[in-house]
Amino acid sequence: MDSRASLALTQPQRVSEDLIVRARDMLASARRIVVLTGAGISAESGVPTFRGAGGLWKEFRPEQLATPEAFAADPQLVWEWYRWRRKLVSDCRPNAAHYALARLALERGGMRIVTQNVDELHTTAARELAGAGDPAPAIPLELHGSIFRSRCTRCGTRASGQPASSESQLPVCEACGGSLRPDVVWFGEMLDSAILDEAMDHARQADICLVIGTSAVVHPAAGLASMTAAHGGSIIEVNPERTPLTGAADISIRATAAATIPAITGAAS
Ligand code: APR
Repeated sequence: MDSRASLALTQPQRVSEDLIVRARDMLASARRIVVLTGAGISAESGVPTFRGAGGLWKEFRPEQLATPEAFAADPQLVWEWYRWRRKLVSDCRPNAAHYALARLALERGGMRIVTQNVDELHTTAARELAGAGDPAPAIPLELHGSIFRSRCTRCGTRASGQPASSESQLPVCEACGGSLRPDVVWFGEMLDSAILDEAMDHARQADICLVIGTSAVVHPAAGLASMTAAHGGSIIEVNPERTPLTGAADISIRATAAATIPAITGAAS
């Protein structure tokens, strides 16, 4: 699978059927698939992306909100921002792309979803589709954590859900009384090495890395697709815009996730 194709069209309905069929055939015949998702997959659920038009980093400064230094300087402000985002994301539902990926992961073996997103929408889709069954094959590796979890800055204990505190008080750990922080990876911080190692293993072993809705500028996440390619696998990219990965992609579909993923995973047929 060495022929490279991309389509510089921004209208999803103008993406050639040929490109969709080729991507679908590649996915259907792959032994192992790794899927890397970014904020763009949740855009059609109403979750704002970070970069680009309407992106959060246009309105807010990352160094004031998403760094350990920002939290040390003004934890109240940082918590306020995360409470706002939790509320915003709580009102959002998975879209057709989340469901199509979850369905594919539950129905076939040999697929792992790796996400940079902290919105838990892949997990919601997995649980809903699995019903009484096991959602595990469709639960993603969360490279950047989750805004719905907190972590103690002293003892490391994790807690799910809204930390028990009023808006004016900083949340504290039930185990040791230390101060809680959002369980996300901020700029300048290391990723959880066990999660990253597992993601890299999947990337190296995959025949295909399907990259959806990421600007591919934040590392190490952005390097996962190159690992697949370096081990002889192919890259399929779905993004309305070009990214630094586009040139390396075997197929680049310039369209939105919800319009494309059901079609290339066979969920729409
Ligand atoms: N479908 C697919 N892709 C889309 C859609 C859509 N409907 N809408 C936008 N996109 C694409 C944009 O073109 C862009 O390339 O999604 C990408 C979003 O990029 P970013 O906002 O940079 O998000 P992401 O790549 O996930 O950011 C990486 O940066 O701020 C940190 O930790 C944060 O995990 C985040 C990381």
